[in-house]
Amino acid sequence: MRHLLSTGDLSRDEATLVLDTAAELAQVGDRSVKKLPTLRGRTVVNLFYEDSTRTRTSFELAAKRLSADVINFSAKGSSVSKGESLKDTALTLQAMGADAVVIRHSASGAAHRLATWVDGSVLNAGDGTHEHPTQALLDAYTMRERLGRLDGLRVAVVGDILHSRVARSNVLLLTTLGAHVTLVAPPTLLPVSVDTWTCEVSYDLDDVLPKSDVVMMLRVQAERMRDSFFPSVREYSRNYGLDGARLARMPEHAIVMHPGPMVRGMEIAAEVADSPRCTVTAQVANGVSLRMAVLYLLLGGS
Ligand code: CP
Repeated sequence: MRHLLSTGDLSRDEATLVLDTAAELAQVGDRSVKKLPTLRGRTVVNLFYEDSTRTRTSFELAAKRLSADVINFSAKGSSVSKGESLKDTALTLQAMGADAVVIRHSASGAAHRLATWVDGSVLNAGDGTHEHPTQALLDAYTMRERLGRLDGLRVAVVGDILHSRVARSNVLLLTTLGAHVTLVAPPTLLPVSVDTWTCEVSYDLDDVLPKSDVVMMLRVQAERMRDSFFPSVREYSRNYGLDGARLARMPEHAIVMHPGPMVRGMEIAAEVADSPRCTVTAQVANGVSLRMAVLYLLLGGS
């Protein structure tokens, strides 16, 4: 495979290979010298048109741990403000010798378009409300690490599904890997096409919690909302927020996940975010190994 654009493009064997490779590469993070010569002489460009804390820094760290040269391009402060298009920006960076372009963009489909213009590999780091494949892969890695399996796992994804690229990538990947996904949201925060997705849908968080091995909380993406999707933050939190009382109703072995950034007090209470059952920092740590694995496999490292 040359690009990573959608988790829907991965077969079960390909997805498992990514997770297994990440598990091997995770050992590099335990060494005093956290570096492999694998991608020496290769260039990775991080092309970010939208803000990011976790994804951009972990792609940068992953590429550096594999000894690649890294260019960090942020649309803010670049010639994009003078009207330069995505295509011309990408071709400019390619002319500097990019072997891989990691792109985050507010437009759904931007990564697919980029893949038709550049010669190197394209890695989708989040395109609009469409997909965020490496987030889903690091989520699956974390579930397998914590619970020992993915096959048959019951995963609830809760919150703003309508604007979530993480939800779509997770449904596609987890289904491929044998897990059962239930989306939990108010009707206004579900896409109209959700009945074509390979998952269950519920409006009742309290009904789903006791039956879940994993509860993945999602942020309400206010920055993508032009309308009002629920009466008030307070009512949203009361119906769809995860607090200590709801955590107590989950099975004892069940974990809480969140891709970040979290909005404490809205979709997740501070006592849950800080609980040992919440894997948010483990997800961030696993994201580095997972992105090393993806870069290694796409760029043919040795
Ligand atoms: N989970 C995630 O994509 O976080 P960032 O927006 O900080 O990269």
